[in-house]
Amino acid sequence: MKQTQIIILDFGSQYTQLLARRIRENKVLAEVLDHRTNVEKMKEYPNLKGIIFSGGPSSVYEDKSYKVDEGYFQLNLPILGVCYGMQLITKLFKGKVELADTQEFGKAKLFLDDSKNKLFKGVPDQKLVWMSHADHLTKMPPDFIKLAHSDSSVAAIMHKNKEIYGIQFHAEVTHSEYGGQMLKNFVFDICNSEANWEVSFFIKNSVDKIKSEVGTDEVILGLSGGVDSSVAAALISKAIGDQLTCIFVDTGLLRKDEGQKVLKTYQENFKMKIKMVDASNQFFKALKGVTDPEQKRKIIGREFVEVFNAEAKKMKQAKWLAQGTIYPDVIESSSPDHASKTIKSHHNVGGLPEEMGLKLLEPIRDLFKDEVRKVGIALGIPEVMINRHPFPGPGLGIRIIGEVNKEKADILREVDDVFINELWKAGLYNQVDQAFAVLLPVKTVGVMGDNRTYDYLASLRSVNTIDFMTATISHLPWDFIENVVALIINNVDHVNRVVYDITSKPPGTIEWE
Ligand code: XMP
Repeated sequence: MKQTQIIILDFGSQYTQLLARRIRENKVLAEVLDHRTNVEKMKEYPNLKGIIFSGGPSSVYEDKSYKVDEGYFQLNLPILGVCYGMQLITKLFKGKVELADTQEFGKAKLFLDDSKNKLFKGVPDQKLVWMSHADHLTKMPPDFIKLAHSDSSVAAIMHKNKEIYGIQFHAEVTHSEYGGQMLKNFVFDICNSEANWEVSFFIKNSVDKIKSEVGTDEVILGLSGGVDSSVAAALISKAIGDQLTCIFVDTGLLRKDEGQKVLKTYQENFKMKIKMVDASNQFFKALKGVTDPEQKRKIIGREFVEVFNAEAKKMKQAKWLAQGTIYPDVIESSSPDHASKTIKSHHNVGGLPEEMGLKLLEPIRDLFKDEVRKVGIALGIPEVMINRHPFPGPGLGIRIIGEVNKEKADILREVDDVFINELWKAGLYNQVDQAFAVLLPVKTVGVMGDNRTYDYLASLRSVNTIDFMTATISHLPWDFIENVVALIINNVDHVNRVVYDITSKPPGTIEWE
């Protein structure tokens, strides 16, 4: 049974995910749905307590602006409109919204006109909130009252007889002082939600659901060693044991000892059936002579799908393909601005589900990344596996600049291993968000002992970031870097010079290709 208590209808705001996060922080499960979702769908949510209309980029007075099924107002559930959401409510209840002379972007002072309102419990007057709107309310809808204002606009409204609220500001962003408190008030004091969203409930519910859905069928899953596929595998394994088979493809472009580590962790801790497929020769062959980064990515993706599909087809009894799709992937592919995109195709899916008539099993598609990590730890996946830095699908293939071959992959694996081990030893690994080495197609002259050397150049990269969309370089201590460089040059053959990349993102990207 769905535990969702709050549905957020997405009108395309860049902050929609944040609304869901803020509410879940209160242990209330909130789910984001496309604003076009028909109200009939709410029948699938027996625990529903309230609806939120998100912000969005369009203007309610434009013909093509995003609409909503007005049936939501007949559900007799509390509704909160945020920014565009409030303007939409204003329009639907016969008020007026127009382009403002003074547009508000950034912080604005919130003056409470009804400080006793449930929405403002514990919220002091004249605190700052985050505004981001060009349009504003110019005529109140007849059945509504004003709850708050800013210097230039109506900032909050409420229906006189129904639990329908609107706020012009973005309570969900951290710049809004007491924004979290207002959302909390909406969720608990207005919607009467219960704080019951716990990792242990999630695991129990998921296990029951997987058992009843899958029955005695067999399931296949592409295990990459990354957090998402690992947690999905652990959860399914807990539910159906050896009806699950994981396929692990060694592309030849993995980190040092990656295959063995994954095998050991998941076989020992979960008794998972894992089929290791060494396809490294196939990958190196396909990559021979190729130097263009995009072409390399495409080739690696294509080969991966081929290998995975070939293995999966051998398992004729499999009826399900499991994937570690997580919530941001789902939101991205279902939000109005991405409506034309299909669900993000992880490169291990290919055309498999359609071709083989497989059903998709996506047990963690409601979770954010940090929730995925919590579930993983609760399931007993070792923290070192869960908290590993992200590793890109194309692996070392995009960290070996220029042509990729086994010799270079072996060199890079060693360089990377020294760097990562030293970060662990120095207690720095968990202080940076992603660290790795890159091998350049350049040889330089050096001297070791009395001998001239002419060998490869490697670069170390370490970044700090919240969302991997932007990043700053990690300010690793110079003596630490010096030590790592010395260890690399003394221990890894064919590398005689190492540099440290100090480019932030932007203008650089995190990976070099
Ligand atoms: P960039 O290089 O775009 O990387 O700044 C941002 C984050 O994404 C990871 N990355 C990938 N992950 N498949 C993945 O699963 C890919 O093709 C891929 N390319 C980049 C990168 O490691 C960083 O964490």
